[in-house]
Amino acid sequence: MSLILNQDEIKSLKKCGSILSSALQETIDYLKPGVSGLSLDKVAETAIRRMGATPSFLNYGDAKNPYPATICLSINNEVVHGIPSKEKIIREGDVVSIDIGARYNGICTDMAKSVIVGKAKNNSDPKLLKVTQDSLNRAIAILAPGVFTGDIGYEVQSYVEKNGMSVVKSLVGHGIGRNPHQEPQIPNFGKKRTGFKLLPGIAIAIEPMVNAGAGDVITASDGWTVKTYDGSNSAHFEHTILITDKKPIVITA
Ligand code: MF3
Ligand code: CO
Repeated sequence: MSLILNQDEIKSLKKCGSILSSALQETIDYLKPGVSGLSLDKVAETAIRRMGATPSFLNYGDAKNPYPATICLSINNEVVHGIPSKEKIIREGDVVSIDIGARYNGICTDMAKSVIVGKAKNNSDPKLLKVTQDSLNRAIAILAPGVFTGDIGYEVQSYVEKNGMSVVKSLVGHGIGRNPHQEPQIPNFGKKRTGFKLLPGIAIAIEPMVNAGAGDVITASDGWTVKTYDGSNSAHFEHTILITDKKPIVITA
């Protein structure tokens, strides 16, 4: 199947991206100490449906253990894919990563942001968030037709490591559009001029996952929650971006 989206699909992608970024903003606005994961998930799901889209993570994956929620809620040493629940309560100083996906007219978008709730507990947390967000912005800045996925990975990894932090290598960004995840893979590490060459009309999700300590991760017994192996904090920023023959368009801005 072609990865190139047609004009109608690009229209849906843009609409889906604006719905998704509004839904994430509503969810972040609701974040405060004492709030539960379940209530955050309801805010996100209600927002997406109110705007005419559907949550794309809900029931995603293996039929034996499908993803059970609208958002991934990953706190402190959780890297990604944390499951929001009634028991998971937000506390002052938490590093909270919210990842969210939607489908509109059959077209998908995906994004994530990390925030610190109230006053930071760790001196290094604000830098962790800034380096992660900046690594995503730096990768977006080099996008153009003819750029390789390895160029993106190189940009993210070299910036993160220069700042004394680590990228997670066992999880990657991805193509997106007709499916929530599709080709090509977008690793957060790599060598320039290697991998897949980008073309106009391809949409990708770039999603640096950055650990304050080492890059190793483990998956919890729920089969989803990915945590840092060394217990250090982790941050995650993600945008869906459309490659065009001019400047790239950040679909989830
Ligand atoms: N943004 C995440 C990713 O691309 C979403 C994963 S949750 C899932 O990996 F349920 F969709 F798997
Ligand atoms: Co993604």
